[in-house]
Amino acid sequence: MTRTEVASALGGVFASLPEASARGLPVYRGKVRDVVSGRDALLLVASDRISAFDKVLSTVPFKGEVLSRVSAWWFERCSDILPNHLLPGGGPASLGLGRATLVRKARMLPVEVVVRGYLAGSAWRDYRAGLAVSGIALPAGLARNERFPVPIITPSTKEDGGHDRPVSGAEIVSSGLVDAELWREVEKAALALFRRGQAIAAESGLILVDTKYEFGVEGGRLVLADELHSPDSSRYWWADSYERLFFEGADQRELDKEPFRRWLAERGFAGEGPVPEIPDSVRAETAWRYIQAYEAITSENFSSIGSDPQSEAELAARIVSERLL
Ligand SMILES: Nc1ncnc2c1ncn2[C@@H]1O[C@H](COP(=O)(O)OP(=O)(O)O)[C@@H](O)[C@H]1O
Ligand SMILES: [Mg+2]
Repeated sequence: MTRTEVASALGGVFASLPEASARGLPVYRGKVRDVVSGRDALLLVASDRISAFDKVLSTVPFKGEVLSRVSAWWFERCSDILPNHLLPGGGPASLGLGRATLVRKARMLPVEVVVRGYLAGSAWRDYRAGLAVSGIALPAGLARNERFPVPIITPSTKEDGGHDRPVSGAEIVSSGLVDAELWREVEKAALALFRRGQAIAAESGLILVDTKYEFGVEGGRLVLADELHSPDSSRYWWADSYERLFFEGADQRELDKEPFRRWLAERGFAGEGPVPEIPDSVRAETAWRYIQAYEAITSENFSSIGSDPQSEAELAARIVSERLL
């Protein structure tokens, strides 16, 4: 895909799934995805909405498709570690709807399982402020973006509508959020997934820095749900410049949302107050970054299987009728 194609798609974004596509079934509208809920299955439709600071701020063409297809790509490469929630023929390519995924409905564990290989993002901010990171007291003297000897798990609770709260593994078990034995299984799976993610990313010159997993229980067993190593659930850096930038104490080269976050930061927006109007140039540049992220992760050219929002909504309605009703 070229920059020109990206720029010409700015007016044709998929902002949200129309109510009619759900055919009377309940729809949960998340920050980024719209979820149509059948009895045993869900249709996850990733919109082109982009969020930061837990707020939806704008739309970015092809973003929903990139997220869905990157996740599907990773599910395929990690399915031997743990069963995942995808139904047969439920991937975006099989459905013919690039932004959609058809999954088994699971009883979700009420925690976000964050795995970190490096001291970055909110973990660095907490550490610098002298705070424990999800109950883990890290050794003194670590530098920003430093690699951990082994990856760590820093969970947070999934709060309805609000900000997620960091929580330790011990607290998750003692408060009864997750049963002890199941939590051990979750930790083991999360670390194995992360190891696999890092190894495969490295083959493409990328570092999988940190990511967030969501697990559920379905049919009496633990399953991997939600998204997998997508640019929205994960942070990726370019590997070739890591060491140099680390020793210079400079920012790492990130794969995706960077131009978007930088633009917000330059305007001093940190989640409070009125949301600034995001110009088309920033939306286009961000779309371009998401597409490059797709291409870097999968080593495939991105060619959209999407069409106009109206046709996509109709296709979603057809999938709901055939597979969920
Ligand atoms: N297999 C599944 N079964 C049940 N719920 C799921 C499954 N996979 C993902 N989910 C849930 O679907 C929602 C996806 O929407 P998302 O845009 O991520 O919204 P949110 O703002 O709540 O994170 C999340 O609440 C996620 O936990
Ligand atoms: Mg989510």
